[in-house]
Amino acid sequence: MSKTLTDRPAWQALVDHHAGIAKHHLRDLFAEDATRGTRMTLDAVGVYLDYSKNRITDKTLKLLVTLAEECGLPDKIAAMFRGDRINTTENRAVLHVALRAPRGEKILLDGHDVVPAVHEVLDRMAAFSDKVRSGQWLGYTGKRIRHVINIGIGGSDLGPVMAYEALRHYATPELDCRFVSNVDSTDLTEATRGLDAAETLFIVSSKTFTTLETMTNAKAARDALVAQLGSEDAVARHFVAVSTNAEGVAKFGIAPSNMFGFEDWVGGRYSMDSSIGLSTMIAVGPAHFRAMLAGFHAMDEHFRSAPLAGNLPVLLGLLSLWNNDFLGFSTLAVLPYEQYLKRFPAYLQQLTMESNGKHVTLDGEHVHADTSPIVWGEPGTNGQHSFYQLIHQGTRIVPCDFIGFMTALAPIGRQHDLLMANLIAQAEALAFGKTAQQVEAEGTAPELVPHRVFEGNRPSNTILVDTLTPESLGKLVALYEHSVFTQGAIWGIDSFDQWGVELGKQLASKVIPELQSAQEPGLAHDSSTNALIRRYRQRGRH
Ligand code: F6P
Repeated sequence: MSKTLTDRPAWQALVDHHAGIAKHHLRDLFAEDATRGTRMTLDAVGVYLDYSKNRITDKTLKLLVTLAEECGLPDKIAAMFRGDRINTTENRAVLHVALRAPRGEKILLDGHDVVPAVHEVLDRMAAFSDKVRSGQWLGYTGKRIRHVINIGIGGSDLGPVMAYEALRHYATPELDCRFVSNVDSTDLTEATRGLDAAETLFIVSSKTFTTLETMTNAKAARDALVAQLGSEDAVARHFVAVSTNAEGVAKFGIAPSNMFGFEDWVGGRYSMDSSIGLSTMIAVGPAHFRAMLAGFHAMDEHFRSAPLAGNLPVLLGLLSLWNNDFLGFSTLAVLPYEQYLKRFPAYLQQLTMESNGKHVTLDGEHVHADTSPIVWGEPGTNGQHSFYQLIHQGTRIVPCDFIGFMTALAPIGRQHDLLMANLIAQAEALAFGKTAQQVEAEGTAPELVPHRVFEGNRPSNTILVDTLTPESLGKLVALYEHSVFTQGAIWGIDSFDQWGVELGKQLASKVIPELQSAQEPGLAHDSSTNALIRRYRQRGRH
């Protein structure tokens, strides 16, 4: 077998193939094959993927699947589901799929079935959520809980806030959920503004229970609560924790009975379906939360068992890799035409870029191809009136994932038709554009013709789902999780560590005392960093 990815026969075949089809325009590919728009689609587990508007032919797909096979994707999928320690740099298994395994299913880690403990925690979460939702869980002064504030950051924030926004339609109106992540004190101040502490429940969500932002905000929230309610005893009624670090939770002053655990084989960005989802469960109730898990599980099973060429996450991952590595399109715009999914792009940013933003392989060698695309996006139609200009006529090509739903959850008249017409039209405009002849035929003044030409040939996927439900949300998230896995498997990187976030954290911990010390610190950074620290220390004196 070849040593490096780019030396593999399938990679080389794709390079040659790319040279051969680079000039093909989507207009020609569609003109040559009247069935392309129905053939290059995949409808599985309630998710319809139209990938026909990618710059591919049948041969491209064949070669990409061969590449996946050469890179051992099927074995790597099996290894993850089997509980192998595929996160080698942290020596951990990667078993978020066990979080959504149905009761009774067996997943062994070191000979021990992990599924019963998952359901034990889910049951405890459900009992607690029901108490909060029904008003049985009272605050320290006997008042009912009206506000739930999740304090967490990264995976301990983005999943919960994305899911809360996505599933608002299913949430109880009796409670409002808020999310605090930033160590910028503005975040906590604004999230708690006007709230009665006696009616507020804080969920401190942190896998490690050591994260600077979360611990700082949690301490500030606890101090404010104790000051307002007049007793340390209030903490037991107003603080619960979600973590893998029982010792840290106890040290903070939260009793084990108020802690919901999970295991180190759940990565932060893969944890919204663990107890990190407690705020989601409180908002939508245990039944909806379990329906979301069932959605995740349906996609897991599809990923595990469908042949590569008919496998939604594999296809999505391979197309992304094709756009990124062979066509050189280095970003991916995720464009949900569903306002409830407004935080989905932000969620996918961490999922994708923290997982696959790596420059070395599992063997510690440099990766010979570009890894994770830069993910960004906004809901449609809003984005159309801001950055779509660049997507249509800019010099850089931005592959897009359009996500839409057949039915509106909050319908007004026929507005949903307008929304979906825009989604469909944008994908059409990107692919086919408008030629100079077409523009001229419209009677456009000759000097304006070049400005009004759309080159087209800009790739996109369209993902359609019937209705945004807890179940379909689970499917969508798992679709992207496994697409990220597919790409990481081909690059041969560790998609489950995040060493790249460490250096900034270490340096910040050095700078903190330098900003705060009463005495002028001896600074040994570079001249820019030293000057910035001195300038900050002299604030108010300029
Ligand atoms: O710094 C990055 C990170 O470790 C993420 O991977 C993680 O989701 C986030 O911080 C929060 O970590 P924790 O849940 O341990 O507070």
